[in-house]
Amino acid sequence: MDDLILLEGVEKVFDVRRRAGLLRRERHQVRAVDGIGFRVPRGEMVGYIGPNGAGKSTTIKMLTGILTPSAGRLRVAGIDPSRDRSRLARRIGVVFGQRTTLWWDLPLRDSYGLVRRMYRVPDARYRANLERCVELLDLGELLDVPVRQLSLGQRMRGDIAAALLHDPEVLYLDEPTIGLDVVSKAKVREFLRDVNAERGMTVLLTTHDLTDIEQLCKRVMVIDHGRLVYDGGLDGLHAKGESERTLVVDLEREFPPITGVPGARVVRVEGPRQWLAFAATHSAAPVVAAVAERYPLVDLSVREPDIEQVIATMYADRSAL
Ligand SMILES: Nc1ncnc2c1ncn2[C@@H]1O[C@H](COP(=O)(O)OP(=O)(O)OP(=O)(O)O)[C@@H](O)[C@H]1O
Ligand SMILES: [Mg+2]
Repeated sequence: MDDLILLEGVEKVFDVRRRAGLLRRERHQVRAVDGIGFRVPRGEMVGYIGPNGAGKSTTIKMLTGILTPSAGRLRVAGIDPSRDRSRLARRIGVVFGQRTTLWWDLPLRDSYGLVRRMYRVPDARYRANLERCVELLDLGELLDVPVRQLSLGQRMRGDIAAALLHDPEVLYLDEPTIGLDVVSKAKVREFLRDVNAERGMTVLLTTHDLTDIEQLCKRVMVIDHGRLVYDGGLDGLHAKGESERTLVVDLEREFPPITGVPGARVVRVEGPRQWLAFAATHSAAPVVAAVAERYPLVDLSVREPDIEQVIATMYADRSAL
């Protein structure tokens, strides 16, 4: 059995103090991760998605050893991350899209040299890895530019390369395509697909761009309020969505969620706009008629199920609980 990542009943509770008056502070707890368990076998590329504040980055920080879990069991490549953080560091690569791990004032090349020394990467290995990354991520012209002069997309590619120079077995990517243009995103995805396939690298990918997931991951885990709400194939999520279409209506003004439409239910409200889900086997016509009969309808559209929507519905359902 070769599970490179293993979590059992993992929790992370933060103690936070909140101002509750001029001098008074209230202590309270945030359950960022609330009893999560999953396994990722070697070589798999898994998507880890969920709405803002769901607990994704907290999970990744525990998996790198930056944060210690409040409860539960966690192993990466057989290592307990928070106990043996430096031993683990040789086996994992991490990219936090929100901030760089590179040295701001140094050219990329020098940053990479430091990574090499830090992990004592053998010369030949280092050169081969660097060459490969430079080629696939188009870094040739950027190697001698200080990191602070790089654009976001260039810096991100630089960061991804830095995470791979020491041949990690596991790669965590926390929003690696955030803020990238369409072309850079495509390049990053293609690269990740290659390293996963060629080196059999295990990848845990967090993103808000569901196209990343569709193009890269067969398996996806959805986390919300610190709990796993879905773990399975992408097709499973699709299958869920295929059972429903959505009627989007713009009313003249804001209304409470529309009621009394047979076979349809409101899944989202944003100002005067409401989303009604109904069975995909159902015609939209009677749903439209029922709404128009009782509400001042200004505009409408019908959305076929896609993954974006499946996820949005899933998030909306959960936060309504
Ligand atoms: N160091 C901290 N101290 C207190 N609370 C924290 C800390 N880090 C995270 N949290 C809280 O834990 C919850 C989960 O945060 P986390 O960063 O893991 O979310 P996320 O899923 O990565 O969200 P996003 O998609 O916005 O990046 C949030 O409510 C956040 O406010
Ligand atoms: Mg995050």
